[in-house]
Amino acid sequence: MSAAVLDASTLETLIAAAVTAPSIHNSQPWRFRLDPDDVALEIRAADRHGLRHIDPQGRALHLSIGCAIFNLRVAVAHFGWTPVARLLPRPTEPDLLAVVPLSSAVTGRSTRLSALYGALWRRHSSRFPFSSRPLPRRLLGELAMAAQAEGALLTHPGPAETDRLLQLTWEAERLNTADAGRAAGSRRLAHGIDGTGLGIPPAALGHQDARERIPMRDFGAHRHPAVLVSRPFEKRPSISVLSTAHDRRVDWLRAGQALERVLLVATAHGVRASLLHQALEWPALRERLTGEHHTRPEHAHMVIRFGYGPEGAPSPRLTARQVLDDSGHAARADRFSSLP
Ligand SMILES: Cc1cc2nc3c(=O)[nH]c(=O)nc-3n(C[C@H](O)[C@H](O)[C@H](O)COP(=O)(O)O)c2cc1C
Repeated sequence: MSAAVLDASTLETLIAAAVTAPSIHNSQPWRFRLDPDDVALEIRAADRHGLRHIDPQGRALHLSIGCAIFNLRVAVAHFGWTPVARLLPRPTEPDLLAVVPLSSAVTGRSTRLSALYGALWRRHSSRFPFSSRPLPRRLLGELAMAAQAEGALLTHPGPAETDRLLQLTWEAERLNTADAGRAAGSRRLAHGIDGTGLGIPPAALGHQDARERIPMRDFGAHRHPAVLVSRPFEKRPSISVLSTAHDRRVDWLRAGQALERVLLVATAHGVRASLLHQALEWPALRERLTGEHHTRPEHAHMVIRFGYGPEGAPSPRLTARQVLDDSGHAARADRFSSLP
């Protein structure tokens, strides 16, 4: 395929594709800027009210932006350019998380990334009960390979370890709802970022597990039966853990790209997913997600629940215009300067 010309409509499509990415509480903590000299798209961190309460270090922000970077690479491949991203390219600009060039045409065999372009528009979190149908072994292998291609590890533990992971997530869910600052941050983001009204719509919130086995996140932090519909979820949940060998900002961005690659491969196969990130938000619990079962240290970044079930409702997104080249919302440049 020959490379597309970078006109306004292609640019808008690239950004629209990037922002279909999942983000913590649908906070969409990203800004984009076209660098006309280098013909490249810059992705920067954006502040959102409430995000610092639930994500003080910025880990989840990096994961979210990693997902958007991966989507951008998929769209770039779709348009016939080489899908690469330079991560944290300028140490003097810590809020600049990646630069994606839009100029060099793909040479040689076409990339497998462009095959995921259709799935990118269809992926939604599905917080509904899944059927009892297990994921085929071969597909689990394919999901693990998708993570590996982005430098991460995806493990799929057996029933006993799954129970342990769900218990850790329950512990974190209880801590989250009991913490006034986090509960307020969660509510604020779920109701709509920065007064835009773009949060998580009721139809996307899904259900709570009537068996109280799977700790679905309570975004309103209220656990009120009249607000949250309870349904029995699958008895044998299919849970995976995504991790990396190191734990620097660049690894958080890689983990985000791996997460989105895994989610898009799952979507392409008709598999739904929801994320259980609660235990990652408490350092002592996060360490226990991997600590006990690996001979070399691994750093966990996400717990993912897979299955067959309803597609999940779409959640609204800021438009390409709203996230393009307006430095007014850019994160303070010093926010990440002390991180590894
Ligand atoms: C870092 C991160 C953490 C997340 N944590 C959770 C979670 O704990 N529970 C949940 O249901 N969804 C979680 N999500 C999913 C977001 O809520 C979701 O992506 C967002 O609301 C947009 O909806 P969509 O995924 O359907 O596009 C998380 C997403 C990211 C990137």
